[in-house]
Amino acid sequence: MTAVTVRVPAKVNVQLAVGGRRADGFHDLANVFLAVGLYDHVTARRADKLTITAEGRDVDGIPLDTTNLAARAAIALAERHGIAPDVHLHIDKDIPVQGGMAGGSADGAAALLACDALWELKTPMEDLLALSGELGSDVPFPLLGGAALGVGRGEQLTALEVSGTFHWVFALADGGLSTPAVYRECDRLRRAAGGGDGVDEVPPPVADPALLAALAAGDARALAGALANDLQEAALALRPALAETLAAGRAAGALAGIVSGSGPTCAFLAPDGKAAAGIAAALGRSARVAESPAAAATVLHPTPGTA
Ligand code: C5P
Repeated sequence: MTAVTVRVPAKVNVQLAVGGRRADGFHDLANVFLAVGLYDHVTARRADKLTITAEGRDVDGIPLDTTNLAARAAIALAERHGIAPDVHLHIDKDIPVQGGMAGGSADGAAALLACDALWELKTPMEDLLALSGELGSDVPFPLLGGAALGVGRGEQLTALEVSGTFHWVFALADGGLSTPAVYRECDRLRRAAGGGDGVDEVPPPVADPALLAALAAGDARALAGALANDLQEAALALRPALAETLAAGRAAGALAGIVSGSGPTCAFLAPDGKAAAGIAAALGRSARVAESPAAAATVLHPTPGTA
């Protein structure tokens, strides 16, 4: 095998319950991930040394060195097997960069799968999940796809039941938001409100049973009523214009609108596909429609361009 391409989905957090800041600086989460049908493609090719290239949306914002999660994933997998990470990784991006849809994490997960296949390592899924959890809190989820609850810092996953099709519109913003900066702002707002921001001061985060039931039933209206993101206030504080985007999507017929993860992408749940297209048209050029649940990261056969 000389090349392997993996298609990997983005995510939206239908619930992001953020607990207190832990001693390690991370926050305890109850994080309900839903995979959505916006995809990056990562191709791994045999090479003399580790190199990385990218094309597609916002590629100027992507590091092309070993700070890229895809490169870190290749290095971590190679280290685990005692081999050299000699691979060329090419990322074809469609997931917004720094958009709160875990695009960088998706590329990390995709690179793990692609290198595992290219190097014919057959690493057990359990080990890939553990490795990906070390790479970042959002890296394991694309390996499961569908819907899952993430606890701990979000990396400890349990698959969730999900049925039907949810129709989303994503309003992409110009320029990303830094995830650590949004968590810091969340902590600052909590301290400013007098409640404190530590694990002993913030109630432990829990998944909402009504939200889990809505996912299992494929009930868009019930899901819309239960969408919740504890980082939204912080994202709005850092990017006040997002309030107008949320209002515009709701006015255009969305059942509900929410900031996706740490933002700045705004996610709107539509009653059906036709309504989603109408909301996207009202929001303009920056809007994308996508359906969920989406499947896990998948190796494409044959690798595009090699058939
Ligand atoms: O795990 P990941 O690398 O995606 O985290 C990026 C940053 O987001 C962390 O450095 C931390 O600032 C913040 N974070 C957090 N609590 C989490 C997950 C992420 O504070 N559970």
